[in-house]
Amino acid sequence: MRNASDQFDSLLHEHRTFPPPAGFSAAAHVASDDVYEEADGDWQAWWEGWARELDWFEPWHTVHEWDAPHARWFVGGKLNVSHNCLDRHLDGPRRDRTALIWEGEDGERRTFTYAELHAEVCRFANGLKALGVGKGDRVAIYLPMIPEAAVAMLACTRIGAPHSVVFGGFSPESLADRIDDAEARLLITADGGYRRGSVVPLKKNADAAVARTDSIEHVVVVARGGIEEASGATMVEGRDVWYHDLVADASTDCPAEPMDAEDVLFILYTSGTTGKPKGVVHTTGGYLTHVYATSKLVFDLKDDDVYWCTADVGWITGHSYIVYGPMANGVTQVMYEGAPDHPDRGRFWRICEEYGVTVFYTAPTAIRAFMRWGEAWPAKSDLSSLRLLGTVGEPINPEAWMWYHEVIGAERCPIVDTWWQTETGGIMITPLPGVTTTTPGTAVRPFPGVAATILNEAGEEVDAGFLAVTRPWPGMLRTIWGDDERFRQTYWSKWDGIYFPGDGAKRENGNLWILGRVDDVLNVAGHRIGTAEVESALVDDQRVAESAVVGRKDDIKGEVVCAFVTTKEGVESGDELAAELKQHVVDKIGAIARPAAVIFTADLPKTRSGKIMRRLLKDIAEGRAIGDTTTLADPAVVQALEEKYAGSEG
Ligand code: WT7
Repeated sequence: MRNASDQFDSLLHEHRTFPPPAGFSAAAHVASDDVYEEADGDWQAWWEGWARELDWFEPWHTVHEWDAPHARWFVGGKLNVSHNCLDRHLDGPRRDRTALIWEGEDGERRTFTYAELHAEVCRFANGLKALGVGKGDRVAIYLPMIPEAAVAMLACTRIGAPHSVVFGGFSPESLADRIDDAEARLLITADGGYRRGSVVPLKKNADAAVARTDSIEHVVVVARGGIEEASGATMVEGRDVWYHDLVADASTDCPAEPMDAEDVLFILYTSGTTGKPKGVVHTTGGYLTHVYATSKLVFDLKDDDVYWCTADVGWITGHSYIVYGPMANGVTQVMYEGAPDHPDRGRFWRICEEYGVTVFYTAPTAIRAFMRWGEAWPAKSDLSSLRLLGTVGEPINPEAWMWYHEVIGAERCPIVDTWWQTETGGIMITPLPGVTTTTPGTAVRPFPGVAATILNEAGEEVDAGFLAVTRPWPGMLRTIWGDDERFRQTYWSKWDGIYFPGDGAKRENGNLWILGRVDDVLNVAGHRIGTAEVESALVDDQRVAESAVVGRKDDIKGEVVCAFVTTKEGVESGDELAAELKQHVVDKIGAIARPAAVIFTADLPKTRSGKIMRRLLKDIAEGRAIGDTTTLADPAVVQALEEKYAGSEG
């Protein structure tokens, strides 16, 4: 519970303004807000200018075509993403610059220069070809945060095989669903990965997933430092191949496949409002242009930077701001395999000091955890190399922003609060660190060339309502894999030709504040979870009759999963069943979806037309007084629930 003094602090912070430090602006890529006018004046020309900074095998004939809701960018152009992230850097001083400094959770270290990374990617790309993977074939990637994750993605893009990375925390069933939907031919996994000192049995999960699918022909397995035994990995003759065997004799020469600007680069599944995740489709030229430009301007990347984004490659942040954007900029970056509190809560700050991290990008959830752990941990390390801080994934509360600014940034580093989504491909709303005067908690304004505003249901501009993107942008998703109708319905049916991201927003003193999801999607620790997915996992248990899942505010994770459940006749509900149902959700989806609370109820509150009243359940879950219940079919249900909830573990 927040007390009055916290609320007062928060009010105070919301009105403080932080201009960029003078020294920062002087050296920044962008130091004047003329850039906004320039970009708006001819936004297609603005993006075209960025595309020109990349290497193209063949030029485009048309910058942009828009047949709402279908966009094409750099039409007719041919390029390769792997070439742009690697080969392009090999002719100059970047060749021998460190591309990747990797640190395992166990303390192991590996580094790759751009030349070395290029060689490794070529070897693996040749290995993939030897296994029969070609242009257009989908490859599923289920790996821990090890260098091979980036290598695998870049090898796929090199040969034009769209990848579908599945976060290593997802269950075998979630992996199988994603493999099926994309009809992936090959799966890349590891024997295991480290998390808080224990081994995550990825290969075992992968085997369970592949047993449920038909399309996988081969499984490539990375040996993550000899933990096969601990993880129980066994190799299937004829199907499975060790990564090290595959690349051992492979050539380091693998020409990059010329891809059409609109060829599919990757599919990334994300949760929506139905039980079935959406395969968000990104293509080649526009996406790379968008992540290249935003990486450079938002993170102000320079040749002497050491950049660290703490995301996992299993999420869009890892795609756009670990692999593609930073590498297209030829920057040096840190990649860390494990948890921030292993072996102790000072791990991140020791990494910052050790490698001289200059630009640090993380999630508000992590910042709130650091806050709770206390200032003593960062104080043990020298953080003076940091010059810029970023956040992404969920709204950042002003208190956490101030802590980040004061304790991590020593009041010296601008903070960029970046709003974007799996669907947008790259950053959309953000400060520019050398230009923008920020206020804690606001993402401020659209990136140059991006147009976004706040609309009501009728499409009128308002100061508080739905966030709306009113102009196409190069990194936009092109469709949902295999379901263009869902693409239209989800994002383009609210207003004509305007993109609806599913977030609420308000405008204050000219700044855009993103207020969180307005649909049945939760944001738990920066990860998107569909309430319908969790509900279908719950009713999958034979003892459950019906369930309704809502989010409950949480001081650290932002929001946690709260499940209301009615059981079938004769089923005994209680703590034991609650624990089993939580585990069932973990087994079905993955640990990120584990309900924080399972509340049993005889009935769920419904309208007379039978619709579950989630808003009401959210009020109950968050302990608020219940307002108007006149549309309820049976008001007694709510009273019973309130009493029940007050008595539960909460
Ligand atoms: C949703 C997208 C973008 C990569 C990580 C999450 C929320 C994201 C912010 C921010 C407020 C934010 C939105 C958005 N979100 N960044 N800076 N301020 N909310 O990607 O899983 O596609 O989730 O995350 O609700 O719709 P994602």
